[in-house]
Amino acid sequence: MDNKVYIFDTTLRDGEQVPGCRLNTQQKLTIAKALEELGVDIIEAGFPVSSPGDFEAVSLLAKEIKRPTICGLTRAVQKDIEVAAEALQYAARPRIHTGLGTSDQHVFTKLKMTREQVIEHGVRAVKLAKKYVEDVEFYAEDAGRTDNEYLAQVVEAMIAAGATVVNIPDTTGYCIPEEYGKKIKYLRDNVKNIDKAIISTHCHNDLGMATANSITGVQNGARQIECTINGIGERAGNTSLEEVVMAMKKHNWLDYQTGIQTEKLHSLSNLVSTTMHMPVQPNKAIVGSNAFSHSSGIHQDGVIKNRDNYEIIAPEEVGVSASSIVLTARSGRAALHYKLKGLGFDLETEILNAAYQEFLNMADRISIIENEHLHQLMESMKVKS
Ligand code: KIV
Ligand code: ZN
Repeated sequence: MDNKVYIFDTTLRDGEQVPGCRLNTQQKLTIAKALEELGVDIIEAGFPVSSPGDFEAVSLLAKEIKRPTICGLTRAVQKDIEVAAEALQYAARPRIHTGLGTSDQHVFTKLKMTREQVIEHGVRAVKLAKKYVEDVEFYAEDAGRTDNEYLAQVVEAMIAAGATVVNIPDTTGYCIPEEYGKKIKYLRDNVKNIDKAIISTHCHNDLGMATANSITGVQNGARQIECTINGIGERAGNTSLEEVVMAMKKHNWLDYQTGIQTEKLHSLSNLVSTTMHMPVQPNKAIVGSNAFSHSSGIHQDGVIKNRDNYEIIAPEEVGVSASSIVLTARSGRAALHYKLKGLGFDLETEILNAAYQEFLNMADRISIIENEHLHQLMESMKVKS
């Protein structure tokens, strides 16, 4: 099996569904250009039938963004597909992403159909989309809670109808990794002609499992991951692009390849966060402001000796200029010495010990000790640089 894993970014569609994150066309274009430079393979640009603004944005991206595939979402509804096809008409590589719910919960309670009707609707939608574009992705909404045997029937019918990608969304973020992995394996083992389509993961993060589920999906045969920058998206969000990409990069023994230029991750995270008014939590993996800062004495001592002691990612790998040592009341002598040395004060042990006592008193009052505080400390101790 080929080890290329396609990165399908849905920041502009699933990510943009977050209340307050609405983007105008120009903002979508700016982010799409940055995603193209980052190296994503597919950009889901929007849901064209949902509003005139989204139609305009998908049309513009289809014209302007040439390397990645541009994808438009639809329901399994004729009008949606026709409108998406129109929005995508100038794309160099257009994709229509259509589908409907397959879990019993969705089939019987939301769609009020039978299982057979769901398959008929899906097949009709895929065949219609196929009249406009070669590349058609089918999503089995709520696949995470769909019975595997029925899901296999759905997927088989969609591939027979011409789907090039079959998306297995864990829409409600319900699965745990083993369960999701088994689901993908079941499809690989039981669906006729499964090799004619790429299996895609699309995991939500309601139980905090989205990254783990996506990686387990890939280990079981999926070759496309749907994700968003900073993991934004409905409720607890989608799989975070930076997390899955770095997980695969760091575990290179798995030998999965993506085309992502990881040193652009940090700036893209900032762009998305500021444009969408969605602050990134400080302890967010890879792109949080604390992701490369060390504050406890034991860790600081270890990092000063050799940063590999506590850093599995070099900050430059993701576009952060350097990791930082943050001085707090939990910091040790080694960190204080290191920071003072950086400011030109290379203290003998005895003076350092005295400075450390003063520093602790100061740190109990001020939660983070900045360089200006260290200068004040040296001045109060009459130490010259
Ligand atoms: O979560 C989901 O199921 C989706 C589909 C529309 C792909 O976002
Ligand atoms: Zn989703």
